[in-house]
Amino acid sequence: MGLRKDFLWGGATAANQCEGGYNKGGRGLANVDVVPIGEDRFPIIAGKQKMFDFDDEHFYPAKEAIDMYDHYKEDIALFGEMGFKTYRLSIAWSRIFPMGDEAEPNEEGLQFYEDLFKECHKYGIEPLVTITHFDCPMHLIEKYGAWRSREMIGFYENLCNVIFRRYKGLVKYWLTFNEINMILHAPFMGAGLYFEEGENEEQAKYQAAHHELVASAIATRIAHEVDPENQVGCMLAAGHYYPYSCKPEDVFKAQEADRENYFFIDVQSRGEYPAYALKKLEREGVTIQMEDGDLELLKENTVDFISFSYYSSRVVSTDPKVNETTSGNIFASVKNPYLEVSEWGWQIDPLGLRTTMNSLYDRYQKPLFIVENGLGAIDEPDENGYVADDYRIDYLAAHLQAMKDAVELDGVDLMGYTSWGCIDLVSAGTGEMKKRYGFIYVDRDNEGNGTLARSKKKSFDWYKKVIASNGEDLSV
Ligand code: BG6
Repeated sequence: MGLRKDFLWGGATAANQCEGGYNKGGRGLANVDVVPIGEDRFPIIAGKQKMFDFDDEHFYPAKEAIDMYDHYKEDIALFGEMGFKTYRLSIAWSRIFPMGDEAEPNEEGLQFYEDLFKECHKYGIEPLVTITHFDCPMHLIEKYGAWRSREMIGFYENLCNVIFRRYKGLVKYWLTFNEINMILHAPFMGAGLYFEEGENEEQAKYQAAHHELVASAIATRIAHEVDPENQVGCMLAAGHYYPYSCKPEDVFKAQEADRENYFFIDVQSRGEYPAYALKKLEREGVTIQMEDGDLELLKENTVDFISFSYYSSRVVSTDPKVNETTSGNIFASVKNPYLEVSEWGWQIDPLGLRTTMNSLYDRYQKPLFIVENGLGAIDEPDENGYVADDYRIDYLAAHLQAMKDAVELDGVDLMGYTSWGCIDLVSAGTGEMKKRYGFIYVDRDNEGNGTLARSKKKSFDWYKKVIASNGEDLSV
C-alpha cells in the first residue's frame, strides 16, 4: 500500500511572510504589511486596534521579511534539491492589483509570479497556489470596509480571472482562502475587518464570511471553466477538539467547537449552509444578506479537495475549574494534561492529526491535502552556523507516521503534504523571525538584522530522504 505514487511532497509559505519587497514592482499596501511585531500585534490582527499604515513606533517585519522577492531562484533551487514535488505559495493580491479595484492588473506583479512558477517547473515542482493568504489591499479596506462589502466579490473575481488565464498550464492546484475560519479569530489579518466602536462583530464576520464563500464558489467555477485540469481546494485551520472529560456536556461542547470551524468547509465542500449553523446564527440574531443565485452558486461549485493546516489538537471543558489554558494557532485552548507543548505553548499531538484526517474524510469523502504542519522553534546555529534541529525532525517524523497510519490503516485518501515554513519566515501569529519552522535557516532576527544568507539545517537532508523514499524512511 503506502502513499500515492504521485504523492505531492513539499513545503509551504505565504507571500507576506517571506517575500518582503512590500513596495517593489508596483505592489500596493496590504493589511498584512501593517501588522507589527510586539504587544500591539494581537489587538491589531483581531480588528480591535486600528493600524492602516506604518508608524515610527513599530517595526513591521513583513516589509522585508526574508526577501524572497529577490532570492526566489536560490530558494527554489534548494527546494528542488530536497526533491519537492510541490511548493505551496501565495500570490500577493496587491502585486497584481495594487489598489484592488483597478480594471487592469499590474504587469510587473504578474510577470514576477510567472517567472517564479517557471522556476519551479525547472525542478519538476508543481506550484500549489493560495489565492489569498490573509492579504487584502489596504485601499479595499479603507474604501469598502474589506469583506463586509459585497463589492469584494467582484474584485476577487477579477483577480481570479486574471491569474487563472495568465497561469494556465503553469498552475493547476489552487486554494481559494487560507484558513478561512480565521475570520472568526483574527478578522483584520484574515479578512481586513476592523471594527468600529459598538459594531456588531459577529454580524460583520458572518456577512464577510458569506462574501468569501460566494467568492470562493465563483473562483472554483472560473478555474474549472478556464482549464478543466484545474483542481481547487478549500483550506481550514484544523485541529480536532477533545472534550476534557466524558461528561456529556463536555462532549457536546467539543462538537459545537468543531462545528464552528467546519461550518466554512461544510459550505465549500457540501455546497450548502448546514442546519446547525443556520440555527445558531438565528439564535444569535445574525442575519446574512444574500442575493438571488448565491445558494445555487454555492451548491454548484463545490471544491475538489479539502486542504488544511494542522499543528495541534484542542480541548474544551464546561467546568470553570478546568481553566488552565495554553497557546495555539492564534487562539488559546484548555491545556491537555497528556501532551507536551512547543516553546510557544502549542500542544504536540501527532495522533490528533490522524483523528483530524479521519474526521475530515468521514465528513466530506473528498481527497485531503495537508498544506501546513510543523514545529515553530528557536534554532541555535553552532559555531559553523549549522542547526542540528533534531527536535523538528522528531516532531515531523511523528506526524508523518500518524499521517501514514491514517492513509494505510484507515483508508484516508491524501494528495500530499507540505510542511509549513519550509524556509524560515516571519511568524503570522507573533511577527517573530525567532519562531522558525524551516529546513533552511535564514540569517535574520526579530529586529531585522542579519545577512539573509540561507543555510541547510539537519532536517534538510532528513526531509530529502523522506521524500526520496516516498515516506517509507522516517528514520534520523
Ligand atoms: C497558519 C497560517 O495559521 O499557521 C500561517 O496559515 C502561519 O500563515 C502558521 O504562519 C503558523 O503560525 P505562526 O503563528 O507560528 O506563524
